[in-house]
Amino acid sequence: MNKKVTVIGAGNVGATTAQRLAEKELCDVVLVDIAEGLPQGKALDLQEAAPIEKHDAAVTGSNGYEASAGSDIVIITAGIPRKPGMSRDDLLKTNTDIMTSVSAEAAKHSPGSILIIVSNPLDAMCHVAMETSGFPKHRVMGMAGVLDSARFRTFIAMELNVSVENTHAFVLGGHGDTMVPLPRFSTVAGIPITELMAKERIDALVDRTRKGGGEIVGLLKSGSAFYAPASAAAEMAEAILKDKKKILPCAAYLEGEYGISDIFMGVPVKLGTKGIEDIIEIELSESERSDLNGSADAVRSLMKEIRQLV
Ligand code: NAI
Ligand code: 2OP
Repeated sequence: MNKKVTVIGAGNVGATTAQRLAEKELCDVVLVDIAEGLPQGKALDLQEAAPIEKHDAAVTGSNGYEASAGSDIVIITAGIPRKPGMSRDDLLKTNTDIMTSVSAEAAKHSPGSILIIVSNPLDAMCHVAMETSGFPKHRVMGMAGVLDSARFRTFIAMELNVSVENTHAFVLGGHGDTMVPLPRFSTVAGIPITELMAKERIDALVDRTRKGGGEIVGLLKSGSAFYAPASAAAEMAEAILKDKKKILPCAAYLEGEYGISDIFMGVPVKLGTKGIEDIIEIELSESERSDLNGSADAVRSLMKEIRQLV
């Protein structure tokens, strides 16, 4: 029997994630969305591409959760973007309510699944999903670091005119302007970029990485990035489905790792069948640690806001 992945939210990120998963023939995919016809239509369209893309993954769409029952992984991309006249608190409350309801459904229909959260604000939404689902911490994680690292890798490859395949990058912390790209651990063919580029150039790439989501929003004007986010979510799912034991930066619930407790934040983790099988701790410099603590403070204050709103 094929593995099964449910993607909740059949919008830009969700549908593209379903496409990536199916085209890699990693699993059958169930798309779930509240918009009538949307998940069914996108699923059928994806299914009809299968003969050309040469895969036998089943892609189905639904407005309910029955078809998603027994999923190995549930990827949550449901949410709404900020609308005119809507305050940040309104958006935070709406997306928290959506995350609460969809993660409850995911837990009810797929009690043994692993949750990969994509909806923003990412680190806080992971927390909401873990509390609602009641799942242990190793079965709830967030997608952000893989995307942020991919952006950093792209900029490094463009700067040095080398293959992206030669690049490796690490980005820790919360998903937002306070994220912590780590040039010391970012390499080209194993050589740290600190030996390949002037500090000013590295600083510019770090800054562009931090603002990477906003750069795409500025260009698209209606909506945010989805191709690279979908690739990132699919890479995490693949590592789990294939039990690859792959080290990837993911949002994980911290209980003392990096000196931080009780929040979700991006750290290097080992992904396998069980979900997060290990959190890798690397020695940070004083300034890296202070940046990470700043990022943790930002996540904590968002969680505080959420607790006051709901
Ligand atoms: P979108 O607006 O294209 O899709 C969201 C979908 O969620 C819509 O189809 C909507 O009908 C659906 N939805 C809303 N409430 C629902 C509910 N209760 N149940 C089921 N479906 C529901 O948005 P897009 O571009 O796909 O982004 C989705 C989320 O992912 C946003 O919160 C966005 O900020 C976030 N995101 C996070 C990234 C990350 O790095 N973690 C990267 C890119 C996007
Ligand atoms: C991004 O980084 C919007 O979080 C989203 O593109």
